[in-house]
Amino acid sequence: MDPTKALEESLDSFGREYERAFADAPTEQALRDEKARLLGKKGALTEALKLMGKVPPADRKRIGERVNGEKSAVEGAFDARLRQLHAEARARELSARPLDLSLPGRAPIRGHRHPISLVTDDLLAIFRDLGFIVVEGPEVELEENNFTKLAFPPDHPATDMQDTFWVEVAGAPSDARTLLRTHTSSVQVREMSRRTPPMAIVSPGAVFRRDDDATHSPMFHQVEGFLVDQGVSMADLRGVLAAFAERLYGPGTKTRFRPSYFPFVEPGAEIDVSCALCKGAGCRVCKGTGWLEVLGCGMIHPEVFIHCGIDPEIYTGFAFGLGVERLAMMRYGVPDLRLLFENDPRFLASF
Ligand code: DAH
Repeated sequence: MDPTKALEESLDSFGREYERAFADAPTEQALRDEKARLLGKKGALTEALKLMGKVPPADRKRIGERVNGEKSAVEGAFDARLRQLHAEARARELSARPLDLSLPGRAPIRGHRHPISLVTDDLLAIFRDLGFIVVEGPEVELEENNFTKLAFPPDHPATDMQDTFWVEVAGAPSDARTLLRTHTSSVQVREMSRRTPPMAIVSPGAVFRRDDDATHSPMFHQVEGFLVDQGVSMADLRGVLAAFAERLYGPGTKTRFRPSYFPFVEPGAEIDVSCALCKGAGCRVCKGTGWLEVLGCGMIHPEVFIHCGIDPEIYTGFAFGLGVERLAMMRYGVPDLRLLFENDPRFLASF
């Protein structure tokens, strides 16, 4: 077909459809898309122009003017619709509901103390009332404070129960081994080494062991307590811990001692309290026994006194250590210890 004719025909069919398409474009983006469809690389007008090269020179001027006319008509229609869209948007903005600066702001969510902190605070308050002072010790501890001076013989099987994480301290002498403390009993060594009796101290804090399941976490919390003076006996230990149990679980709570072993006490015991839930009748929480294990305790071993520079011929004392998580789980009915450390706000919000 004659290229001039072909080009003229396609310009004819190009028509004025775009006017309608532009008018219907509801947004600036839709309008730009529409324009690209006509004038872009693959646009209808561009396709037609590809025939230009074949048009005989005699017709070129006429056809060229027509093509340019179409192009600027499209541009003009596009600009007009764009101005119209902008004007409409502006009008909408002006007639919209005004921004209300008097609306109250969004209040940030208030945090609160973690259940472990709540229970720890309660325990410390009880011992403060009984005359104990609160002292904290470091979580990264010397092996000698954590084990050796507490009369754990080297490689004693008791250290297996407290397998922990060893820490390398740059520049430390090679015989000063360092670890994450496995219990707060290390604070006994620190404080007894730098104080002269009498002393009555409680020490809360995080401890670390290689355990991880529904009732054990590699990091958990203990409260340690110890009292040293002349003439301290097992009866004092019993009196202090019975008073403590009654304050914690309510009047009438009973305590019982079971013999147990810890290298740094002699004799050593574990204390059970009558189950606060069933009052001793036996239930799910106390596994039918009527008793709950709460702490380890005993009379401070003379060897520990000697390691700390205290004369065991003059002084005696007792010590105890308890796990905070167990108490928190019992108090709040938490079924899985790990919930306490996942920091899920849905869980923590319930305290
Ligand atoms: N340190 C022991 C532990 O973590 C608990 C303990 C037992 C502490 C007896 C004491 C004690 O002070 O006398 O298992």
